[in-house]
Amino acid sequence: MTLILGIESSCDETAASIVKDGCEVLSNVVASQDELHIEYGGVVPEIASRAHLERILPVIIEAIDNANISLDDIDAIAVGNRPGLIGSLLVGVAAAKTLAWTLSKPLITVDHVVAHLCAPALNGADISYPALGIVVSGGHTSLLLLSDVSTAVCLGKTIDDAAGEAFDKAASILGLGWPGGALIDAASKKGTPVHQLPRPKTKGNRPDFSFSGLKTALLYGVRGNPIRKDGKSFFPRAISEVSEQEIFDWASSFQEAAVDTIINGIQHALGNNRVQCVVAGGGVLANTLLRKKLSSIAGSYNIPIHLPDIKYCVDNAAMIAGLGYHLFEIGHRDQLNVTASPKGIAS
Ligand code: KG4
Ligand code: ZN
Repeated sequence: MTLILGIESSCDETAASIVKDGCEVLSNVVASQDELHIEYGGVVPEIASRAHLERILPVIIEAIDNANISLDDIDAIAVGNRPGLIGSLLVGVAAAKTLAWTLSKPLITVDHVVAHLCAPALNGADISYPALGIVVSGGHTSLLLLSDVSTAVCLGKTIDDAAGEAFDKAASILGLGWPGGALIDAASKKGTPVHQLPRPKTKGNRPDFSFSGLKTALLYGVRGNPIRKDGKSFFPRAISEVSEQEIFDWASSFQEAAVDTIINGIQHALGNNRVQCVVAGGGVLANTLLRKKLSSIAGSYNIPIHLPDIKYCVDNAAMIAGLGYHLFEIGHRDQLNVTASPKGIAS
């Protein structure tokens, strides 16, 4: 039996988890900071790193307690050290290094984006390789070709906004609030996708993604094309003039276009790569329509598509421990002088 303590602090979730043998989650503690950033409509890096500092030790202690183990029982400590907000990452990395040093336990750093693809295994998925990985989150929209659980090459990624970021901005345009993905999802259920919004395709052979044009098309669609008068630009319609039903219809139209864009990228990659399955991860995988469309393309390609359980879609440390376990098993160890990086395999 191998017990890994996972630590995650790359953005605005402070998380710790104990995972047994890479797939059995004994504890999963996530302290979200949504309430600290909500008034700014997005994550403020300085606020995030200070909140991580306050929360990291209580979160780790809770994860150990909930798993009914002691620190001595841990075989190794895994931490996401890339990519992410540097001030946030450093808090988790400093905590992991300190524990590794004081307990004389191995330290393993992992790529947060690749770790998202370990989430489906936490609810029992048996993943065969090579696999196509799709990570759709607030910071990333990346297609990865995995030759095994920890070896990946990036096939394509967003050239502007990440899909989750586009969901968040769309929710803000529609006056729904923040974080916006779940709010757009809920609003879409009351609307109909009556508006035709673009499904942007990037040029060339890489299955890259682009979401900023879709976001602008939504803004102009809802508020009208900007008018210039007296050297100033303004929208003909205020959001307060848009009826509730219209908001729902725009949310639904945006969601259809964003999900189609993601699905098109996956189909492009599946057309060019022979894989055993698709494995998916990231906060946007909580989206109802995306889950439905992914399940239906699995049938047409005749391969399994492994989705994470909803609780493992958004950032968590169980996925970090999951990837840490596989690296531990192949003998990967990091030195105590290892540091954090804002860039990872897909950035
Ligand atoms: O994976 P995650 O916690 O963060 C990063 O690693 O970046 O994903 C957070 C993102 C946010 O942009 C949030 O709006 C989006 O996931 N999200 C959703 C849904 N739930 C969360 N997007 C669409 N539909 C949802 N149901
Ligand atoms: Zn993430």
